Amino acid sequence: MAGKPSGGRGARFAGAMDPAAAALNASVHFDRRLLRDDVRGSQAHARMLVVAGLISAADGDAIVAGLDRVATEFQSGGRALDPALEDVHMNVESRLIELIGEAGRRLHPARSRNDQVATDLKLYARRAALDIVSAIDLARVALCRQARAHAATLLPGYTHLQRAQVVTLGHHLLAYAEMLGRDRGRFVDAERRAAESPLGSGALAGTGLPIDRARTAETLEFSGGPTHNSLDAVSDRDFAAEIAFACALLAVHLSRFGEELVLWSTTEFGFVRLGEGYCSGSSLMPQKRNPDVAELLRGKSGRAIGDLVALLTISKGLTLAYNKDLQETQEPLYDAVETAQQSLAVMPGLVAALEFDVGRMRAAAEDPALGATDLAEELVRHGVPFRSAHEVIGRLVRRAEEKKVTLRGLDAGDLRAIDAALSPEVMAALDPGRAVAARTVVGGPAPAMVEREVARLEAELTALGLEP
Ligand code: ARG
Repeated sequence: MAGKPSGGRGARFAGAMDPAAAALNASVHFDRRLLRDDVRGSQAHARMLVVAGLISAADGDAIVAGLDRVATEFQSGGRALDPALEDVHMNVESRLIELIGEAGRRLHPARSRNDQVATDLKLYARRAALDIVSAIDLARVALCRQARAHAATLLPGYTHLQRAQVVTLGHHLLAYAEMLGRDRGRFVDAERRAAESPLGSGALAGTGLPIDRARTAETLEFSGGPTHNSLDAVSDRDFAAEIAFACALLAVHLSRFGEELVLWSTTEFGFVRLGEGYCSGSSLMPQKRNPDVAELLRGKSGRAIGDLVALLTISKGLTLAYNKDLQETQEPLYDAVETAQQSLAVMPGLVAALEFDVGRMRAAAEDPALGATDLAEELVRHGVPFRSAHEVIGRLVRRAEEKKVTLRGLDAGDLRAIDAALSPEVMAALDPGRAVAARTVVGGPAPAMVEREVARLEAELTALGLEP
């Protein structure tokens, strides 16, 4: 029989591809990531072909064993993938045929590289999603521990990056745990939706051969069974876009965290010191301790968003079914996944090594202006309508500004002149500890509420087998 496959060209072509065209066409330098999934998919396909009576049991066994060898050879680095063979699929099949001969030539009925790559990519994407879920959970453990340690640590909360109201550091850190919790859910969802097997959809139109798609779906742990439309199955990259979106939003969350660390570690803020293992020095300025890792958490988000935009843009306007443009969806997916994995990998250590300057935070939280809202609420407790209370405290703030003193610096005469309701006991509401402790509303920053939320998160993480 004829020689080894050259890409997908077979006997149809008399000559080789133009070298520049071949370079543009090749995907092996990135789809090598699909090696293990490709081998796994091919083994499932071969076993099914045996049961369907399309190949002999002996050939099936030879193919499965041969594929194991192919995988080992390529994975160990003992053998390089050949770009002349275009992609990982042709490399695997071609090497299989070299190793086991005729039996290897019986692997490919009832499938195409189109359903093959869709299957491989889904296997990759599902595994990546679950891996990212685990990494997110480790980051949540670290945030949970710091939140527990700082349930009662006071600091200013900000809106518009202006000091607004006193909150607790534990509450602030748990805000990130919330974001990461939603990110987790998005990866879990995306993984679940990707659980239908495209294998057996052929190039676009299925096959007339009596294959069993449910069987290969089951072997490959596609719990949703086979896909329902061959045209859609070979051209669907929604799962890649969903994961890229989940990665992009995760990266946006990590960028916010990174930005706060950059800001908080400035001399001007001085709220936190990053662990030495997460800083770098300057080649020129000996005193520098730069928050590079936090900056990169921030910067990587641009790249993740770019990956998502690339994926969506490549997919738009494609006619049914497969088009080679789809090959271009691979790299953004890999990049989004690998960027997310890299960023998440630093989170547990970075968070654990944060040294918060509790004294500086507390001092900033002592700013009496932060208590203005709490004062107004205290007046409401004494029966004053909120709008009137807002006005009274507004006048109080203006008076303090005129006198160039803080709210606490106003004397009894000032208070009386502004409103009779401003008794010393009302003014006690300015105490930051008291103010924040009162905000026990569900989702509020009071230490008691932080402890409750920490306990809730701990229970969730413990149920996942982690030790928060
Ligand atoms: N490397 C290709 C991809 O990523 C595999 C499928 C090739 N199919 C084809 N008809 N040329 O899409």
